Formats: sequence, C-alpha cells, structure tokens
Amino acid sequence: MKPCPRPGLVPLAASLALCAALLLPPALGAGSRPRQACATCRGITERFNQGLADTAKKNFGGGNTAWEEKTLSKYESSEIRLVEIIENLCDSNNFECNNMVEEHEEHIENWWFKQKKKYPDLFKWFCIETTEVCCPAGTYGPDCLACHGGSERPCYGNGQCDGDGTRGGDGSCSCHREYSGEFCLDCADGYYSTLKNDTHSVCAACHDACKTCTGSTNKDCKDCKEGWIKNEEEACVDVDECAEEVSPCKDDQYCLNTDGSFKCKACDASCLGCTGDGPGKCKNCSSGYSIEDEKCTDIDECNLAEKECVRENEDCINTPGSYKCVCSEGFEKKDDVCVQTVKAGEVETLATAPPSAEHEDL
Ligand SMILES: *[C@@H]1O[C@H](CO)[C@@H](O)[C@H](O)[C@H]1NC(C)=O
Ligand SMILES: *[C@@H]1O[C@H](CO)[C@@H](O)[C@H](O)[C@H]1NC(C)=O
Repeated sequence: MKPCPRPGLVPLAASLALCAALLLPPALGAGSRPRQACATCRGITERFNQGLADTAKKNFGGGNTAWEEKTLSKYESSEIRLVEIIENLCDSNNFECNNMVEEHEEHIENWWFKQKKKYPDLFKWFCIETTEVCCPAGTYGPDCLACHGGSERPCYGNGQCDGDGTRGGDGSCSCHREYSGEFCLDCADGYYSTLKNDTHSVCAACHDACKTCTGSTNKDCKDCKEGWIKNEEEACVDVDECAEEVSPCKDDQYCLNTDGSFKCKACDASCLGCTGDGPGKCKNCSSGYSIEDEKCTDIDECNLAEKECVRENEDCINTPGSYKCVCSEGFEKKDDVCVQTVKAGEVETLATAPPSAEHEDL
C-alpha cells in the first residue's frame, strides 16, 4: 500500500509537503513540519551509513582468495546489499520514516547505482539537493537563506538560528543565556563584555551581587541585585536582613542571613522565641521546660517532690514539655477512675490472676 502516492507532475518537495500536511497529526505546529521532515531524512541517511558499516565485512571470510575478492567486490555495490540496508532504515512504527523511504526509493536506488561515486555525501545529495527537505548548515527556510549573523557562524556563535539546516524556521537567533540582541552580540543582564570586535562578542557573568555590571567584581556593579546594597566603597554587599530592628521572621522562628537574602527557621520545641538553632539559643523556655546549663531542659514532672498523679493505681509518665497520668498495668480507666481489667474467660480466676502484661489502655 502506498498511503501517499506522488502525483505525476508535482515536484518532489511539493508532493512531500502535501503528503506531510495530510498525514501528520495536527498537534505539530505548521512551522515544525519542515523541521520534522528534515530530521526524518537525516535519520534515514544516518541509518543508511550505519547499514553500510554493518554490511561492509559481510560475505567476506577473512581469507584472501581470488574468489572471495571477486564475491566481495560484487556484493559491495550489489542490489542485495542495498535491499539489506534499506530494510533497516526505519523502525517499523515510524510512519513518517517509512513513508519517506517508500516515496523516494527510486532516488536511493539511483544514488546507489549511479551517483554514489560523484556524490559520496548521501545526506547532502538526498536530503538537501534531491528531496529538498533540509538546507546546508547555517541556512534555513524554503530557499535556504543565510541565518541571522551569516551562514558561517549563525548568531555569531552565541545563539541558535531558528530552522538552522532545515526548510523551516525564520533564521532568527535565540541567544545563549549570556547574550541578547538580534545577532546575540550584546550582553544579557547580569553579564558583561570581555571581548568585542567585528566578528566576535564574548560576555561573562557579573559578580553575584550585581544586577548589571562592567566587570567581574562586586565593585564593578552598575546596579546591585535585590538583597545587596552599595557600601562606602561603592561595592555591592549583602544586606543583613536579620540585623534589622524588627525581625522579618515570626516569634517562633529565628532569622538566618544568607548572601542576598535570609531564611526563617523554626525554634527548638523547648524555646519560647530564640536567636538560633537548638535548646541553647532560647530567649525563654516553653512551659514544661526550665533553664539548666543554659539550655531549656524538659522538666520531669514525675520526679517532683509534689506528686502529679495522685489517684489510686495511677502511674506518671514524663513527656517532652509535659506528663501523663495513666492507669497502672492491669488497670483501665472507667468513669475517670482506674479499675482492674476484666478479661473475657478469666472471670473465675480474676481474684488470683497476676496483672495482665498487656498495655491496653496506656
Ligand atoms: C576578534 O576576536 C577573535 C577572538 O579573540 C579573534 O579570533 C579574531 O581574530 C578577532 N577579529 C578581529 C577582526 O580582530
Ligand atoms: C521572656 O524572658 C524575659 C526575660 O529574659 C521576660 O522579660 C519576658 O517576659 C519573657 N517572656 C515570656 C513570654 O515569658
């Protein structure tokens, strides 16, 4: 089946474009089709060259008899070898690739038998000159015009030319991060020029402290970045947000200054307000904690002279910042008092049974 037959007189590229327009999913933007066609074609020629390499040693026993040499040279440019290579040009599920190969099989055969010697570069012959789905490097669009900044070094080597090497795109530059402007010759914000002549422009990163600059240090800033401020020597230095009279953090956080910014971090659970990390940096202690060795330390309420859990069959358990009163082993809470646990089936022996080992109601 030929899903996209070529009408007799329509030029190849036009029929291919028509074909592609009919067959490709509409999700691809209009401008991406020519690029996709070129990528497909490039893939085909790469697989072809791989196939050439893979079949190079075939039918060659390693010996050197006249018979073998004759067989080899015959195989080298044979139809059998061509068919073997063509069979592996596309993955079976790659519709566009299979379609392109089918469409242009005569061209590939023509190249193999007649043009290969004269035009050894298959990509150039097939994709650029014959099917016209690609352009030479540094050019773009239907007519393979030079990219912005020239085809030799598109975008002066500082960016990517839109559609470079394909029949798509508009030749405009998307500059690398350091550069800006139509030709990527200017430095982007945060970068400064280290070299600029007729053909080259090189930009390097400003110091961290600068938004814009003329050189590499924090004294070369034109403007400071947010979080930095100019000092007496006109250098941009970090603002210590934590030194402000009113802390920028909440009451249960401490402030940590960083280059160009600051962080708010949670105080230790033992603190009521703090100046840093850990129980040694508390301003005051949380309830249930008291100062001990300059640290807020948990108070063991169960060890105080005055007992906290005073009811019968009740134990005290200390917790961080507090304590719990729980029924002793073998007892459980009922109507706010601890009563002996009654277990099903143990009713008769209850009187003599040892306390249950299970912590049922802790
Ligand atoms: C511009 O600078 C580049 C990089 O240093 C150098 O290779 C080139 O020769 C220079 N061109 C001119 C015209 O000075
Ligand atoms: C924290 O301790 C200070 C004395 O160091 C005291 O003046 C202040 O009232 C305490 N604040 C709280 C919430 O306990």
